[in-house]
Amino acid sequence: MLSYAQVVIAGLAVLILFLFHCYQRRCYKDPLLKNWPIVGMLPTGLSNLGQIHDYITQALQRKEGTGSFVGPWFTGMNGLVTCDPMNVHHMMSKNFANYKKGPEFHEIFEPFGEGIFTADSDTWKYHRALLHSLFKTPSFEKFLEKIVREKVDFCLSPLLDHLERQGIEVDLQDVFNRFNFDIICSVVLGSDPKSLAVDFPKVACERAFNEAEEFIFYRYSVPRCIWKLQRWLRVGAEKKMAEACQLFDQFLYESIASKREELSKNNEMKETDEDLLTTLMREEQGKEHVNDKFLRDTAFNLFVAGRDTITSALTWFFWLVATHPSVEAKILEEIKEEKEMKNQVYLHGALCESLRLFPPIPFEHKQATKHDSLPSGHEVYPGTMIFLSLYAMGRCEKIWGKDCLQFKPERWISERGRVVHIPSYKFTSFNAGPRTCLGKDLSFIQMKIMATFILKNYQVHVVKDHPVSPALSIVLLMKCGLKVRIMSRC
Ligand code: HEM
Repeated sequence: MLSYAQVVIAGLAVLILFLFHCYQRRCYKDPLLKNWPIVGMLPTGLSNLGQIHDYITQALQRKEGTGSFVGPWFTGMNGLVTCDPMNVHHMMSKNFANYKKGPEFHEIFEPFGEGIFTADSDTWKYHRALLHSLFKTPSFEKFLEKIVREKVDFCLSPLLDHLERQGIEVDLQDVFNRFNFDIICSVVLGSDPKSLAVDFPKVACERAFNEAEEFIFYRYSVPRCIWKLQRWLRVGAEKKMAEACQLFDQFLYESIASKREELSKNNEMKETDEDLLTTLMREEQGKEHVNDKFLRDTAFNLFVAGRDTITSALTWFFWLVATHPSVEAKILEEIKEEKEMKNQVYLHGALCESLRLFPPIPFEHKQATKHDSLPSGHEVYPGTMIFLSLYAMGRCEKIWGKDCLQFKPERWISERGRVVHIPSYKFTSFNAGPRTCLGKDLSFIQMKIMATFILKNYQVHVVKDHPVSPALSIVLLMKCGLKVRIMSRC
């Protein structure tokens, strides 16, 4: 005989199974958007983690550009995801004050310290004005151009010649990573760690920086309580992240200390030293907040801003060009004409097109301060988390038309042969509104110098069957790098 308690338990179990069945049938017949009881969409997200950006793009297409995501109960992983340009315009420009990076972002991006990326309100305004005054000068552009050209002539060119002569396959992404690491060190710290060399040296600080960035993505992919527990226990990914950050911080603090010593020995700061650390120490001299922590945070943020973004942009660009011979031929035609950089319209279009399809920063994270209604009709409440998928925006048919998945530099060129201007809330790869990327012009200078040099002198052949897919990181790098063979053009 069954006891009364057993009957009640059996009845409850049947009821739960029945409700679960109805819930699944009613809510999400679409497996792409499956929302499970208790655990929400986390299993669906995790099972699509390997191709998360394409998954979000497809899911958003079915939800007309904006959808909710539901995390497990009590984890605070709920919010909105959008690729609707009107929502982006609203959040990034029209009602900018209501959409902050917020405390959650600050927590996830803890290694960034109090730098520009995580800052909001007055702190952000201060950093923005400071970096604007440093970057947006013709002398700084010339300084960057000189450093990039020297690195091309003295390091990249001999390396590619060597690889060509030896017939060695090389990971082009690794080459760009090393190139850009040396550049950003020279620009920010005034010293070159020479990580780009024929013997591909292991440079500990460069590796540590790569790892720190990779592990930040991990914090996005698991409930907050899990990574926080791991951080507290110092285990798993959090342990590795703490070690990587410690190593990279040591490198930054040592660079700051040696710069201070150098400057104190010289007794006064030389006007000719143009690296950003020296300029900051000179211009902000005597201000109380300009201590080593402030300099570390500013330097760290600039490394993130300017290193992997350009690596990612160039890697996808070279893959697209190598797999689209007609585009390559048109770029070469333009290069032969030896135009000034600003007149390289076709190359500019090809770079924009590549940045559209593979935005180096594939998503953005915002948090609402007050209640608001988005142009798409979705309500947001204080604290609502909103993800902008820049990747999905670049592949949105409504913005780019039916051929949105095709690599067509021509879409950036007007009938009069000029670069077509596309508003930043549609072409979001450099962000939009008051927080638009401060390094956009500098990036084009560097990318054009490198692309022109490589394409003019070498043929880049992607190794047959090399797997190409995005890595799980906050920057859209290639998971397995880009294995290529280099052949001389002459
Ligand atoms: C192809 C290269 C680049 C791309 C696609 C790119 C893209 C972006 C994006 C999407 C943001 C917004 C990030 C966020 O708010 O979470 C951003 C911000 C920023 N970028 Fe870039 N970036 C590039 C290169 C650079 C370079 C070379 C520098 C300078 C060294 C730079 C400096 C900055 C700064 C300082 C910000 C913060 C702006 C603010 O919050 O007000 N970027 N960039």
